Amino acid sequence: SKSYNITLLPGDGIGPEVISVAKNALQLVASIEGFEVAFEEMPMGGAALDAVGVPLPAETLNSAKRSDATLLGAIGGYKWDKNEKHLKPETGLLQLREGLQVFANLRPATVLPQLVDASTLKKEVAEGVDLMVVRELTGGIYFGKPRGFSTNENGQEIGFNTEVYAAYEIDRIARIAFETARKRRGKLCSVDKANVLEASMLWRKIVTALASEYPDVELSHMYVDNAAMQLVRNPKQFDTIVTNNIFGDILSDEASMITGSIGMLPSASLGAAGPGLFEPIHGSAPDIAGQDKANPLATMLSAAMLLKYGLGEEKAAQRIEAAVLDALNRGFRTGDIHSAGHKLVGCKEMGEEVLKSIDSKTPAA
Ligand code: NAD
Ligand code: IPM
Ligand code: MN
Repeated sequence: SKSYNITLLPGDGIGPEVISVAKNALQLVASIEGFEVAFEEMPMGGAALDAVGVPLPAETLNSAKRSDATLLGAIGGYKWDKNEKHLKPETGLLQLREGLQVFANLRPATVLPQLVDASTLKKEVAEGVDLMVVRELTGGIYFGKPRGFSTNENGQEIGFNTEVYAAYEIDRIARIAFETARKRRGKLCSVDKANVLEASMLWRKIVTALASEYPDVELSHMYVDNAAMQLVRNPKQFDTIVTNNIFGDILSDEASMITGSIGMLPSASLGAAGPGLFEPIHGSAPDIAGQDKANPLATMLSAAMLLKYGLGEEKAAQRIEAAVLDALNRGFRTGDIHSAGHKLVGCKEMGEEVLKSIDSKTPAA
């Protein structure tokens, strides 16, 4: 039977808690659908710094490159916050994304009917929201040079970064976005700051030039400040959003709250070829780490994206998605999405309830 290698990177904080739950789900749906999964668990982020002194050991990157897909929990924490740049957990994550060349980060934000009342927005605003942020992931200000620390002419310390995009980087992420929009509701909104930034002016030019190749997709442009406002004013106007690395980081956290919690949002990071990286959009949540309070559903849904986009195992993916909905339908809620009338559970129990829902499901369509 088919067999896949999956690299697991639990990382820091709530990372190990949510990964252990998602691992069980992957194992279970694989056995139901009749394929094998072999896991290789590797150190990453702060855990790797503590173990071997670097945030992304070569063995970890190699494992991710060799495997069919990688599932990451989260990295980072107070303990390493004052580390030098090259010894930060976050630097390891950027090296991993760069090393795998996963330039396209898909971050879906869907308001589930079960969770409308978990949204901080009014029911009529949140209900039915279903959008996809396509975030450029290996360029922009995160990677641009020059960068660093220096001293200016007044002897003041300065820190500086560069927002830079080459035409090919914009072209390839825009193509992914047009194709994503085409498979959804055919609307693409490109978010930039072309009224101020040269990198955004080029971004808008390249995206606009591609529109004629996708006549079935309705393209619009929006400045990022307005987009931040429109997301909470009327999020249903959005279908697919394409944007640069930093704007995508910020807007996807904002979009998560429309759905009820950042603990619900998965992501897939894909390149032109080679294995993908799958991770919840949230961080290591040091404020709740080690307390069995984390919502594991973002990681569960990331595992579903791994099955779908990474392995092409669509049925197995659907089983996890259906089970998440079923556990919610049966009333289980972690603290971040809890409201009156529901059963408050921890990370582990939420995971177990999703597993039960997988068990009891008849074959996915
Ligand atoms: P965060 O996403 O870790 O947490 C923000 C808030 O959301 C916290 O109150 C946290 O408790 C809550 N939260 C996050 N995930 C949750 C979940 N699954 N269930 C319930 N509540 C959840 O962001 P932060 O506090 O700004 O960052 C903490 C650390 O994580 C930092 O070191 C940061 O660099 C890192 N980080 C890592 C990633 C990643 O690994 N991809 C992403 C974002 C932040
Ligand atoms: C994310 C995180 C990362 C990012 C950090 C931890 C490097 O916020 O995955 O959204 O900014 O991309
Ligand atoms: Mn982020």
